[in-house]
Amino acid sequence: MADKPAIKIMEWSEKFIVDNGLIDNDHKFLIELINEFNENVPNFSTPEDMKPYLLSLKKYTQTHFAREERLQEAAQYNMRKEHRVEHRDMIAQLDRMIAKAETAEGGAVTDAAVEISTFLTDVWLVNHILVNDLPMRPFVDGMVEEAANLMDIRA
Ligand SMILES: [Fe+2]
Repeated sequence: MADKPAIKIMEWSEKFIVDNGLIDNDHKFLIELINEFNENVPNFSTPEDMKPYLLSLKKYTQTHFAREERLQEAAQYNMRKEHRVEHRDMIAQLDRMIAKAETAEGGAVTDAAVEISTFLTDVWLVNHILVNDLPMRPFVDGMVEEAANLMDIRA
């Protein structure tokens, strides 16, 4: 019997601050969803065990991306076209992780879960925040009014 896999935990950090508001709150919630998956990695024994966590993550990610795109439109963010492409790529990456979860069987479930956990924690969201979102910082003032309008919208 293999050892139980080490649980990865993703932590919020000040280096992730984009707007001290709506966007940061979304990122914190995405971190929570990734950590819920991570904490359950040792308990997963079938694809069906993993899938609900990944589908929740996908749903909230789509909500978050829609919000970001609306804010960027409102602020006339100069990289908004490129940002939309990055969002589409990230959803495609998530779909690949979901496919990986769906096709893992038997002893491969834990390996797949660890791989998904590692990717989501070390690459997927960190890359989105630090590479894609931080360049928005200078435009945040232009997003404040639209952010107030979006506060009530939840997935
Ligand atoms: Fe974001």
